Amino acid sequence: MLDLSNPFVMREDLYACDGTLILRQGEILSNQVIEEIQKSGRMRKREASPLKTSEVFDDYRAVMEEENYNVIFAGDAVKEEVLDIVSEISLTREIYQELELFKVMDHYTYRHILITSLLATLLVKDFFPDRQQVILAGSSALTHDFGKSRIPIEILQSARKLNYEEFLYILEHPWISFLLLAYYTGEAESLHPMVAFNHHEKIDGSGYPRGIKVEDPIIRLVTICDMFDALISPRTYRVDPFNVRGALDFLYEEATFGRLDMTFVKLLISHNRQSKTPIDSLIISQDNTGYRPPTEKNNYSCHEDYEEPDWEDGSTSTV
Ligand SMILES: [Fe+2]
Ligand SMILES: [Fe+2]
Repeated sequence: MLDLSNPFVMREDLYACDGTLILRQGEILSNQVIEEIQKSGRMRKREASPLKTSEVFDDYRAVMEEENYNVIFAGDAVKEEVLDIVSEISLTREIYQELELFKVMDHYTYRHILITSLLATLLVKDFFPDRQQVILAGSSALTHDFGKSRIPIEILQSARKLNYEEFLYILEHPWISFLLLAYYTGEAESLHPMVAFNHHEKIDGSGYPRGIKVEDPIIRLVTICDMFDALISPRTYRVDPFNVRGALDFLYEEATFGRLDMTFVKLLISHNRQSKTPIDSLIISQDNTGYRPPTEKNNYSCHEDYEEPDWEDGSTSTV
């Protein structure tokens, strides 16, 4: 049973890419509703095909070459090791269709989910000896933002500050991602839907959408990979991103506040240094010499870094 004490009401009808209506506008999410979604998901026969023969695999290879990642993915050996693992991912037709939708409609999110998946694979393999678990983690990171494709594109790619109604679409994308994946997998509490649901939650309960304390190590790790890429990538509403060092400083700070898993933040830092030192012996300076965009220095900054709505006067847009 999932903790749904923070009730969620559907803003719009939600359709799967096979045309099935998953939930109607106005419906309130409950465990019973989720059970029905799982059931209807299980009734559809879905065969998985290997990612290696899809164009997603070529795109994986391409995003690895980005400048920001030339230390983390330095050298052919590291690249090939990670590509070898993700080549074993198998996906169903619906998942490929969702990925194609991003590729056509929202290339930013497409490259973001690919690189988050590669990064998660790289980090998870250091901690989990079971190869199947590493493959599963990489695969679940690939689908973590699926709900974003249901956000109107003019909101998702808006360069101005969003009004509160628009902001809610962003805030609710983990719910939508979760529902889509509960339907596609037929198992709401399996890793893909749960990573999607909880990737903006924090270990101290300060995240969203439910404010739960995340304990699952793979979700904690995907969250860090997700944030890292979000911070260093230019967006329509933030043309001036963090540099790699600035993003790592920020994540380290978040971990010292108890919001992120310190071990996994250190693991990311050690990969960015190509360090062979054990994580526990890693020396991390707190001189904050990395670059952070000035307006975001004191803000929580992930890819949903909109300001809180002004509850006092109910004002919405400040364009
Ligand atoms: Fe997200
Ligand atoms: Fe993301």
